[in-house]
Parts: sequence; structure tokens; C-alpha cells
Amino acid sequence: MINLAVFASGSGTNFQAIVDYFTGHKLIRVKLLLCNRAGAGVLERASNARVDSIVFTAGDLRCSNIVPDALLRYDIDFIVLAGFMLKIPGNILNAYPDRIVNIHPALLPKYGGKGMYGLHVHKAVINAGEKFSGITIHMVNEEYDKGSIVSQHTCEVYPNDTPESLAERIHKLEYYWYPRIIEKLLVRDS
Ligand code: GAR
Repeated sequence: MINLAVFASGSGTNFQAIVDYFTGHKLIRVKLLLCNRAGAGVLERASNARVDSIVFTAGDLRCSNIVPDALLRYDIDFIVLAGFMLKIPGNILNAYPDRIVNIHPALLPKYGGKGMYGLHVHKAVINAGEKFSGITIHMVNEEYDKGSIVSQHTCEVYPNDTPESLAERIHKLEYYWYPRIIEKLLVRDS
């Protein structure tokens, strides 16, 4: 089996979509959730799905071996960032070359970088008068939102959209495409 670890900081609806998609999969399973926020909704989702979780702080991630040790212990092959708001440190990037993927709720290279997450992204897209937005699935490197793009999927931005209504449309794209693109990457590599 190919073992996935998902890193998430928030409510974890993408985590849920990924777990649901890979439940019963022949080749791929979600083995571990890594979360930097005690009390985040994603932790309850992991517990309901019987996926083990580990909580750590931003300081732990930068300065301790809690995360690399857990990745080893759970025999993790591939890392999925799903609404994870911290930078992945160099030691983990080096241990997982081309094996860390992220999803961003806009069409990179626009509307990416530090501070561009969740509703901030959709507000910026609407304020700029964009007619289209979408999602970007990309490999992770040392810079926020700068790794090579794996795939992008678009949707319309309507004149009466609010950040929340656009977020809903973007989430639908995320839930459909993210698990399928992860599968494609892994099946291609195996
Ligand atoms: C998702 O929309 C994801 O694209 C975004 O955070 C949300 C997490 O929602 N990620 C970023 O903005 C990364 N820069 P979720 O916790 O419900 O999956």
C-alpha cells in the first residue's frame, strides 16, 4: 500500500474528501493526519474516520523531530497538504523530494504567496474583477505556492459573488479533483 499523510490546519473538508475517496482503495490509504492547531475541526474528522493524528506547534515543526519521526514511524510515502498554513521545513522537503503536493484555491501564479489563504484569496479575486478563478494543485518547494503546477481547474466568478459563494464553488472543484489528481500522481509513480 502507498501510505499518505495529510497535513491540515483547519476544518478539514478537503481531508474528508480525500479520506472518503481512498476508503477501500486497492493501492492508496490515508494513514496519518498532521495538524498544527489543537481544536481544529479536522481532528474530529480524523478520529471519526479512524485515522491517527498528531498535533504539533509551529515551533515543533521548525525545531523538533516530532513530525519527521512520525512520518518514519507511520511509513509515510507521500504527503498531501490540505489547508495547511505553515511552511514545510527543508528537512521534510529533502526527505520527500517530489512527494509533497498542495492545493491552492486560485489559479496560480496569481493570488498566491504568504497570507493568501482561504477567504483572503477569494476576496482578492473578486476585488480584481476576475471573470474566472479555480484551483491549482502543485508540488511543494521551499517557497509558498511556487512549486511546479500539476493541474489547474477553473470556474466562473459571477458579478454578484461574495467570497463565501465563490469559496463554495471552489470547494466543489477541490473535493472532486484533489483526490483524483493525487491518485494519478501515485499510480503514475508506482
Ligand atoms: C482550501 O480551500 C484550500 O485550498 C485552502 O484552504 C482551504 C482549506 O479548507 N488552502 C490555502 O489557501 C493554501 N494557501 P478545508 O480545511 O475545509 O479543507
